[in-house]
Amino acid sequence: MKRLVDKLQGSGSLTAEEWKRLITVRDPEITEYLFERARTVREEYYGKDIYIRGLIEFTNYCKNDCYYCGIRRSNGKADRYRLTKAQIMDCCRAGYELGFRTFVLQGGEDGYYTDEKMTDIISSIKESHPDCALTLSLGEKSYESYKAFFHAGADRYLLRHETANEEHYNRLHPGSMSLAYRKQCLYELKEIGYQVGCGFMVGSPYQTVDCLVEDLLFMKELNPHMVGIGPFIPHHETPFAQRKAGTLAQTLVLLSIIRLMLPAVLLPATTALGTINPKGRELGILAGANVVMPNLSPVTVRSKYMLYDNKICTGDEAAECRFCLQRRMESIGCRIAVSRGDYKSQN
Ligand code: SAM
Ligand code: FES
Repeated sequence: MKRLVDKLQGSGSLTAEEWKRLITVRDPEITEYLFERARTVREEYYGKDIYIRGLIEFTNYCKNDCYYCGIRRSNGKADRYRLTKAQIMDCCRAGYELGFRTFVLQGGEDGYYTDEKMTDIISSIKESHPDCALTLSLGEKSYESYKAFFHAGADRYLLRHETANEEHYNRLHPGSMSLAYRKQCLYELKEIGYQVGCGFMVGSPYQTVDCLVEDLLFMKELNPHMVGIGPFIPHHETPFAQRKAGTLAQTLVLLSIIRLMLPAVLLPATTALGTINPKGRELGILAGANVVMPNLSPVTVRSKYMLYDNKICTGDEAAECRFCLQRRMESIGCRIAVSRGDYKSQN
């Protein structure tokens, strides 16, 4: 098995059978070897630096109805909110003071924010903070909208593909959504010039090892700058309320595999990972991740952006999260970098 890890590190790829064996590995000696290799590769590119991204969850209205998501349209119990441009600008100002040099605007697919409103918000953020990167995570839009946002100053776009297997995709989403369009969006974003992030939930309902192999092959083909993975966690007001959450062990193994497959990738240890285990984010970094995304949203709205149950940090101020994560990173020998933290195409 160690030979497989070495092969992956050396060539960035494996055969389908080999991928399956590595994805399902649980032998502690092998997983420790895998994590160690992934850390070494991360350090070759990024040293001990961990990048922070200030996440601003600016709307929880969504026109979609993904079966797993707590802010899906059909959840009548969700307490909906939208942040004003002034509130978003305040979040950025406070974040800048705390050392953030990347802001991530994330929200449900909310028609209230027309292209005109979004480009105005994007250009104002970039005008006020020209030394910062701006990441968008607004879901599926048209090519023209993506282009308009890019020209207004957005640098990066996160759009998890959710699963690269079509049948699986259709079991997670209603018929109005399609994997083909999701993939098309990712290729268009790349073509426009964004740094692009894809990703998926680990342990989502109906996910098989074959699905995970397809996810890896798709990521190898897309060659994204960022990959967001975290465990699926059920939300009590969704059709998947009774489903089991993804596991820490599987998420860590996949983080390491992704680091070895795409050595320079920007890879967050996600809030969902911190939610299923109190040390989840530290363990994610020790398995090869190099990004954390503390929340910058106003405390008044945080508990309303509930994608899944028991989400952490919903009562904490931005500064608390920022320094909490600094302590956590320092406790494992890493440091938080005050920089945009762009993708490094070579070391
Ligand atoms: N609307 C945008 C989009 O679709 O990309 C951004 C917001 S969406 C809520 C962000 C991500 O949350 C999704 O890509 C999904 O992977 C994740 N997510 C949603 N529900 C989740 C759950 N129950 N457990 C873990 N992650 C979840
Ligand atoms: Fe939010 Fe620790 S990161 S309280």
